[in-house]
Amino acid sequence: MSSYDVIVIGAGPGGYVCAIRCAQLGLKTAVVEGRETLGGTCLNVGCIPSKALLHATHSLHEAEENFAKMGLKGKSPSVDWPVMQEYKQSVIDGNTKGIEFLFKKNKVDWIKGWASIPEAGKVKVGDDVHEAKNIIIASGSEPSSLPGIEIDEETVVTSTGALSLPKIPKSMVVIGAGVIGLELGSAYKRLGTEVTVVEFLDKITPGMDGDVQKTFQKMLQKQGLNFIMGAAVQGVETKNKKAKVTYKLRKDDSEATIDADVVLVATGRRPYTAGLGLDALGVELTERGQIKTDAHYATNIKGVYAIGDAIEGPMLAHKAEDEGMAVAEVLAGQAGHVNYDVIPGVIYTSPEVASVGKTEEQLKEEGRAYKVGKFSFMGNGRAKAVFMGDGFVKILADKETDRVLGAHLIGPAAGDLIHEICVAMEFGAAAEDLARTCHAHPTFSEAVREAALACGDGAIHA
Ligand code: FAD
Ligand code: NAI
Repeated sequence: MSSYDVIVIGAGPGGYVCAIRCAQLGLKTAVVEGRETLGGTCLNVGCIPSKALLHATHSLHEAEENFAKMGLKGKSPSVDWPVMQEYKQSVIDGNTKGIEFLFKKNKVDWIKGWASIPEAGKVKVGDDVHEAKNIIIASGSEPSSLPGIEIDEETVVTSTGALSLPKIPKSMVVIGAGVIGLELGSAYKRLGTEVTVVEFLDKITPGMDGDVQKTFQKMLQKQGLNFIMGAAVQGVETKNKKAKVTYKLRKDDSEATIDADVVLVATGRRPYTAGLGLDALGVELTERGQIKTDAHYATNIKGVYAIGDAIEGPMLAHKAEDEGMAVAEVLAGQAGHVNYDVIPGVIYTSPEVASVGKTEEQLKEEGRAYKVGKFSFMGNGRAKAVFMGDGFVKILADKETDRVLGAHLIGPAAGDLIHEICVAMEFGAAAEDLARTCHAHPTFSEAVREAALACGDGAIHA
């Protein structure tokens, strides 16, 4: 038995970042991880492998669609799927090994195995019981399916199965037009799969700004994705490695079916807390099964904290990381804090979609007076040069004070451009502050400045 200041359960972005920060702040720290490799969902079966496939398939698309236009002639590359899978695995391995290195460098112990909490101050792994002044649960999340659908990770898959299919399917039905469905759906479309997305609501990516939703769906349709909107999936039948999806259109209750080689169920994720012994310990959960915490990530049990996908809030790696750092600082006697008003969300399709702060719909609902500065990438020389003129930057600012309240981007490098606006929001900047900042030419960032100018006297290149 060993004794620690902090034991973190789970080595995803929440847990591993938290452990490193705890160690940096002088706390004796261990992490328990049951998986064979560190990095959690994000590095093993989430953010990292999906971005590897998105990058590879985007490169293929560039070669097929744009190379010849630039005078780069010759045969388009063909897809060697096993090699693409090896590439994806090498990206995963590089990243998970990197966390192992960081643990050694920071003197964080990795206790291998699955943890439970028999009582406050104790963590059980196998037959060993370790002592910890503080326990931080960072156990993450798992895919949630629908009633009537049995996942076999072969024909009916979650994102985990979809990232490692043995071959590229001829056809795929994606259930859910959320982040996972659209990222992976668009990657397979570029590989030649016939992709049909079936979505319960009438708009894709629920919660996003309405302008972005409309433009994004049009762009994806142009890329060849089919959408069946307002359709409630009733069930999936499988026979001889083929699937039949039954759905009911909400507008008239009519039922229809669609066949596919693979069905990707992407209808959200739920907190993963199985096996921790939370019930016996008396840890309070929310109605949605998330671990309840206060503003300092403390549960109702003294010395037990929780962060990341296992608690409330957006299920994003960077949100988990920020909470990990904040709780480490709280335990070290500092003022750990996360500003939930400025957490960016990015969808890594081509083009990327990025958003932060309030949507126009939210501002309308709040009855807040606002102004909109919008700039199309068509007016951005750099974007046009790389065939990425579709899309826009939209900045929402307070009508009176000009303070930036939100931003919504669809276009080249949107996932990077958003951070300039995040920093502005953290500093309580006005749109004019962005507009008066000199931006290098020719960059995609100039579109952000132009949108900020459009909040005032007007964009120059519009
Ligand atoms: P996790 O990463 O889920 O890690 C939890 C870890 O805890 C796991 O490794 C698990 O094995 C371990 N664990 C659980 N219980 C125990 C136990 N009892 N004992 C020991 N170990 C335990 N987010 C983004 O921000 N950007 C993206 O691009 C993005 N892409 C994604 C793509 C996909 C396909 C998926 C599925 C998710 C994606 N996400 C993305 C979401 C992101 O992966 C999660 O928000 C993030 O991983 C949450 O981090 P976490 O530390 O809370 O939990
Ligand atoms: P999601 O919550 O983004 O989308 C689920 C979609 O499924 C919604 O549009 C919903 O309306 C739809 N749906 C629900 N029930 C349905 C039904 N019966 N029939 C048809 N449609 C139905 O969930 P998703 O895509 O599974 O992602 C899970 C989490 O992973 C997200 O919360 C996201 O934060 C995270 N993630 C983040 C990424 C990123 O940041 N780039 C990438 C991938 C995942």
